Amino acid sequence: MAGERGGQNHEFSKPKGTQDLLPGTVEKWQYLENKARDLCCRYHYQEIRTPIFENTELFQRGVGETTDIVEKEMYTFPDKGNRSMTLRPEGTAGVVRAYAENKLYADPDVTKLYYIGPMFRYEQPQAGRYRQFHQFGVEAFGSADPAVDAEVIALGYSFYKEIGLNSVRVEINSVGTAECRAAYRAKLVEYLTPMKAELCKDCNSRIDRNPMRVLDCKIDAHRFADAPTILEYLDEDCVNHFQAVQRYLKAMDIPFDINPRLVRGLDYYTHTAFEYKSEGIGAIDTIGGGGRYNGLVGEIGGQDQPGVGFGLGLERILLVLENQGVTVPGVEPLDVYFIGMGTEAEEAVIRLLYEARAAGLTAEKDYQSRKMKTQMKSADRFQARYVAILGEDELKTGTISLKRMDTGEQVTVPLAELVAHIKK
Ligand code: HAM
Repeated sequence: MAGERGGQNHEFSKPKGTQDLLPGTVEKWQYLENKARDLCCRYHYQEIRTPIFENTELFQRGVGETTDIVEKEMYTFPDKGNRSMTLRPEGTAGVVRAYAENKLYADPDVTKLYYIGPMFRYEQPQAGRYRQFHQFGVEAFGSADPAVDAEVIALGYSFYKEIGLNSVRVEINSVGTAECRAAYRAKLVEYLTPMKAELCKDCNSRIDRNPMRVLDCKIDAHRFADAPTILEYLDEDCVNHFQAVQRYLKAMDIPFDINPRLVRGLDYYTHTAFEYKSEGIGAIDTIGGGGRYNGLVGEIGGQDQPGVGFGLGLERILLVLENQGVTVPGVEPLDVYFIGMGTEAEEAVIRLLYEARAAGLTAEKDYQSRKMKTQMKSADRFQARYVAILGEDELKTGTISLKRMDTGEQVTVPLAELVAHIKK
């Protein structure tokens, strides 16, 4: 039966694969978000906010028709005007669209952007995999310099380090350009075709349409250990680019492994592809990934401009932090909890509370007419540094009694000195 208001039965529960971030947890998110913003500021990236939904075609064209994301995972719906809309499954396509549409390429400098927000994929939920999840991402447009690839990799690496994840591994690869891939593709089809009968339905449908996607199959990927790798087919420019990225990473002492089998789940990459890996979320070990995408801006309708970026999953980061026992700041303690004894004092406390908050203190009072002892318990739960008690005597003398909760020490101070005393 449907639950009644205030009853024990709940008529509604959150959609599968989503999470409620409650007070106590949400502070951890704010901490990660603040860290990301601070780091982006130091790396000179500016925030961009784009719509949560876009025209479906943007993702079909941007992410790629043969990817799992586009073939199976998008939240796509017709709007009331019968346009096909999709909740963004990732951040890059929307940012590229905004970059092109707003002609940000007119900027004479490299355009360096970041975003933090929800993404949506209809996946089978498990630890670290959700249907609504959050990414911190960056995208840098307007330079093909491998130093930007290295900067982007360094930014993500620094983020993990600064929040206390020291065991993150960086894996890099080069997926070349469309030209290098043409020769590789033929070799790959040759390698995969004899196995066709044993491979899953998706692989079968992708061997001819997009054989590199087959290497990334969630079911069959383990079978392709001896597949030819793209690195054997890179042209001179691609090799030089890849080597430069490695030199720059070494110059910054960022450890990395070359993984010639790293093919990301999105079709837009050219040259550098990379992933951040960590233990600690069961079967999943990738906590972030990105790469260069030199053809994408042109593909989406803008003036052709090179780009490179990453997306880091915030849920996965929090899971790894928890599993590795790294503590993240929780709820902020209160500066002061006010207790008024008697009607007149209660009224005076309303003013004091207002003034304390205006003066920059975090302050609270009781709103349930509870006994002094019960109020003291609330002050403890709120980790108040001070409890300020206003009784009839204090009211008469224009003072307030202030108890320091860690030492138990109690003093009486003139009201005018209250804020200064607490701030001290
Ligand atoms: P991606 O590898 O699809 O790349 O996603 C990046 C990160 O988002 C993953 O490494 C993971 O941490 C997180 N993530 C992805 N799917 C889920 C999920 N279902 N549940 C929880 N976390 C998830 C991209 O999205 C690209 N846009 C990255 C990029 C930016 N490349 C260039 N610029």
